[in-house]
Amino acid sequence: MNKVLVSLLLTLGITGLAHAAGDAAAGQGKVAVCGACHGADGNSAAPNFPKLAGQGERYLLKQLNDIKSGGRQVVEMTGLLDNLSEQDLVDIAAYFSSQQMSVGAADPKLVERGEALFRGGKLEEGMPACTGCHSPNGAGLDAAGFPQLGGQHASYVAKQLTAFREGERTNDGDNAIMRTIAAKLSNKDIEAVSSYVQGLH
Ligand code: HEC
Ligand code: HEC
Repeated sequence: MNKVLVSLLLTLGITGLAHAAGDAAAGQGKVAVCGACHGADGNSAAPNFPKLAGQGERYLLKQLNDIKSGGRQVVEMTGLLDNLSEQDLVDIAAYFSSQQMSVGAADPKLVERGEALFRGGKLEEGMPACTGCHSPNGAGLDAAGFPQLGGQHASYVAKQLTAFREGERTNDGDNAIMRTIAAKLSNKDIEAVSSYVQGLH
């Protein structure tokens, strides 16, 4: 891991949200409305709805707060979080995090390019490998707020990378980590790396 990554990790660790422990069992009773899109256990069937199962608790809570405040715009979820308290969000994050994310498959034709990007980055353009933060098996590092990518739907992942690149998703912090990385990715890069992570576990 290089020095830039280490200092980023430290910054994120220090500025990350502190929160009370979530109650997964209580959370399960609060997610009936979510299941229609995300699946009852957080493994969504439709590839444009992200899987939440097994995703890091801290990452999920941050996204819920960002979506609720409008810092991240999800039109499909308009109003859905308005009546939920911070404790509700903490419990919901704990519930989905306690589930197991299902794994998909990568397109064999895209594996080589996807793997090279995921594991090697684009050194000539100063783009770090995804593994540095999202870990070699794609599990992420929740203590630092790095989400799990392994098993996530490719079309959802591709949509996020495109949104970061185009500046449509801006909740990746003052360092704009993901916007900076996605700026180096072509459409073909995005297609390949997204397919690759869908099959990663
Ligand atoms: C009508 C469909 C729909 C419903 C119902 C819904 N969501 Fe979502 N949710 C979405 C979509 C679509 C996205 C991704 C939007 C995008 O592409 O950025 C999303 C994103 C998320 C994310 C971010 C995931 C990530 O990996 O960053 C979380 C967390 C989330 N939803 C939680 C919930 C919870 C909790 C509920 C119930 C209170 C809920 N959603 C209900 C459609 C829905
Ligand atoms: C320096 C650390 C770092 C590196 C390197 C990195 N990421 Fe990220 N990534 C993050 C962080 C932090 C977030 C969460 C941003 C937020 O809180 O919304 C994230 C979020 C994402 C998301 C959104 C996940 C979701 O569920 O919505 C995707 C997709 C993603 N990264 C893909 C990649 C890919 C592909 C690479 C390599 C090309 C990469 N990242 C490299 C730190 C990193």
